[in-house]
Amino acid sequence: MNYESILKELRPTPEEIDAINETTEKVIDFINDLCEKKGIDAKANAVGSVAKNTWLRGKSDIDIFISFPIETKMDDLKKNGLEIAYKANDALNGNASEHYASHPYLTCDIDGFEVDIVPCYAIEEGQSIISAVDRTILHTRYIQKHLSEDQEDEVLLLKKFMDAVGTYGSEFKTGGFAGYLCELLILKYGTFEKTLRAAQNWKRHTLIDLEDFGTGSNAIFKQDPLVFIDPTDKNRNVGAALRMERYVDFIVASRNFLDVLDDDALDEKEREEKIIEFFHPLQKEHLSNKSNEEIAQYLIDSFKDRETQTLLIRFPIPDMPADALHPQLLKTIQSICEKIEMEEFSVFKYDYWTDEEKYVIFTIELNVFKQGKYYIHKGPKVWPKKACDNFKEKWNDHLYPLDEFMVLTRERQFKTVKEFIIHILNEENIHMIKVGKNIRESICTDYILLEIDDFLIDLDKYFDYDTKNQGIDEIQTDYLNSVDDFINPGQYLKR
Ligand code: UTP
Ligand code: MN
Repeated sequence: MNYESILKELRPTPEEIDAINETTEKVIDFINDLCEKKGIDAKANAVGSVAKNTWLRGKSDIDIFISFPIETKMDDLKKNGLEIAYKANDALNGNASEHYASHPYLTCDIDGFEVDIVPCYAIEEGQSIISAVDRTILHTRYIQKHLSEDQEDEVLLLKKFMDAVGTYGSEFKTGGFAGYLCELLILKYGTFEKTLRAAQNWKRHTLIDLEDFGTGSNAIFKQDPLVFIDPTDKNRNVGAALRMERYVDFIVASRNFLDVLDDDALDEKEREEKIIEFFHPLQKEHLSNKSNEEIAQYLIDSFKDRETQTLLIRFPIPDMPADALHPQLLKTIQSICEKIEMEEFSVFKYDYWTDEEKYVIFTIELNVFKQGKYYIHKGPKVWPKKACDNFKEKWNDHLYPLDEFMVLTRERQFKTVKEFIIHILNEENIHMIKVGKNIRESICTDYILLEIDDFLIDLDKYFDYDTKNQGIDEIQTDYLNSVDDFINPGQYLKR
């Protein structure tokens, strides 16, 4: 297959390349001049996809790392690093906001580009890292050295495909493939297509060790679905952030893509049209040209058809970074669902949505959400008399034998899942579930519990706010889209 027509859309334009390089150089020169003037022993480096020629058109973030000698005290690195970053931002008329990875860094809007300025330690290959971001300069050098110009195109195809099927990005929310991992896969397999051909046969635990370090059996990698030993650090798995869900998504998407590519029944033109779709965002036909109200109505009807009960728990989130929020949400909703199951109700499916700034919505769909008044409380087997006597002491006349056991009929504490949720979501009983520490207070004191149709029918009431990135309408659409994903899983993996 010739991907030239697709690549024409993916490669950055010459104008974009010039503009990016100009801004990158401006920032680097400013920082290096400043360090020289002030006698600070630090150096600015271009890293990330811009430095590797592997960014997708219009999707560039400029990553600039300020490296300090390894003797630098962490406090000095943090303080000086941030100070230099702010000065560069101010001098270049940027607009800065602080973020936090292993230590604080700055994201600046300079000339319309998103520029990350990150302090780090200047480590050499083989040296152990001091902060989590120290490998990045080595990654950049490794890719610059080993990736050929043709393979840069292959990386673009792989990144865009991953993006379109929903598996690109190593932030916790996605749990997918990082840019660096895509680049390494192309180094391993040669081309985009060969990567997919290999991926369709990947197993539960796939090991790739490009530099033959022989560290793949290290116990810390045992739970990871894909272990790609970092060529710049033998004790690091580049796929450490990849979750099993995204790993299998990519395998299945690869099979779906190759089914089209290898389908003899298609003529050349049909095939190309279908293939191109795999590089574009999914168009949801069943939602196209529909208003938010119409989509909400479609979703209400779909839930009705499922004959389940779907409960929503909505609560506000405290001010915290998105990458810290998501793991807490996942852990909390998982724990709530486990407890619901322990009460003999049955969870069909659950998920959460968040605008990452103001609200979270937990969605819990139940196959069994209501139970009869009584349940059978089991005691000891009939045979040991002593045990039965003790049991009887506690429950006196209510006991009777059933099969080989002494039992009694008791009234349930919770007849519905709603009652159970109301019971656990308060300061007194919250200890019954594992709850993320930052959201504990707000989920206890400030939640609303609703059935999904009551929510969907009244969207304007619940979404009457905007966030930094989205207006009211957009937030609604984003939420409705996530509910559609809930009802129709797997859509993104095929075209
Ligand atoms: P980016 O997330 O910006 O990746 O991280 P990228 O390679 O520039 O790809 P784009 O921006 O999506 O096109 C910058 C660098 O940080 C390191 C990598 O070295 C990467 O090149 N990094 C980031 C990791 O090693 N692992 C991660 O999960 C994320
Ligand atoms: Mn980047």
